[in-house]
Amino acid sequence: MIESLPAQYRWAAELAGPKVPDSTTVLVCGMGGSGISGDFAQVVAGGVGVDVRAHKDYGLPAWVGSIRPLILAVSYSGNTAETLSAVDAARVLGLDVAVISTGGELARIAAAEGYPALLVPAGLQPRAALGYLVGAALVMVASATSLSNPAAMLVETAQATADLLGTEGSGRGHEQARAIAGALESRTAVIWGSAGPTEVAAQRWAKQLNENAKTPAYWSTMPELNHNELVGWDSTRRELYGSAGIVLLRDEGERQEVSRRFDLTVELVRESAPIIGEVWTVGESVLARAATASVIGDLVSVYVAEAAGIDPVPVDVITELKDRL
Ligand code: F6R
Repeated sequence: MIESLPAQYRWAAELAGPKVPDSTTVLVCGMGGSGISGDFAQVVAGGVGVDVRAHKDYGLPAWVGSIRPLILAVSYSGNTAETLSAVDAARVLGLDVAVISTGGELARIAAAEGYPALLVPAGLQPRAALGYLVGAALVMVASATSLSNPAAMLVETAQATADLLGTEGSGRGHEQARAIAGALESRTAVIWGSAGPTEVAAQRWAKQLNENAKTPAYWSTMPELNHNELVGWDSTRRELYGSAGIVLLRDEGERQEVSRRFDLTVELVRESAPIIGEVWTVGESVLARAATASVIGDLVSVYVAEAAGIDPVPVDVITELKDRL
């Protein structure tokens, strides 16, 4: 499934999505593997001054009443309760709505209400459909706002991720992922990124480790972590975090001040905190940089699962929780 990501980005590059109502602000509503498409869209659009925000909850935030954003509901299954609740709230408020899914209740509502809908290919775990969902979200955002056509950045992203993956596990990305997975072993991963592409990638790493490797994993960002988390990596508290492993996600585009903070932080915690890897983004566009850092995390999560004899695909406990709800 990870190997299919470049083809997913390429699919999106060729998409002619439906016309979406114009808006200056887009609120992407979705959860988990679907919802993260909103974070990707936010970081890409935010880089060129287009206001995209992500919402991961029931209903809608109160500010939508005055700003009246376009509500872009993203759910791979089309049946996620929080996302359907957001759409219901939007309908009550008379907000414009657009939809991305493979079908389900969300597609049914879109057809009934006449909302523009983009159907992505079915048959994957939602989190494995990242390329479809992020690509579709960018196409919809570009249709609604001043964001320019994302085709070129999607093609670049397809190429950059394909280069990292190589063929049959031969790519540099696999090599790097195997090394980090080996160092991670049974450690709890802590991923450090910084504002921009590595923030969304850090989030993706943690969630992929959760769902694929079935392990706790946490993420945070520079410079904020310098003002709190840094203190927690105190050598006298090693018994509390001795089984953690820190991975740094770095980007050539990060601010100089942030680079300096990474260097100094590593110096300060090197003796106590187990920094086990550093991954640099590849590519020009924000999307390519976020996606390349992310795909290494995808691979790491599967290598960690494999080493532990765990099937990365099923997420039975999520299904059970949804059933019990
Ligand atoms: C499963 C996964 C989950 C789902 C989430 C929302 O692979 O990643 O995080 O994405 O439970 O479901 P959908 O995406 O169908 O709206």
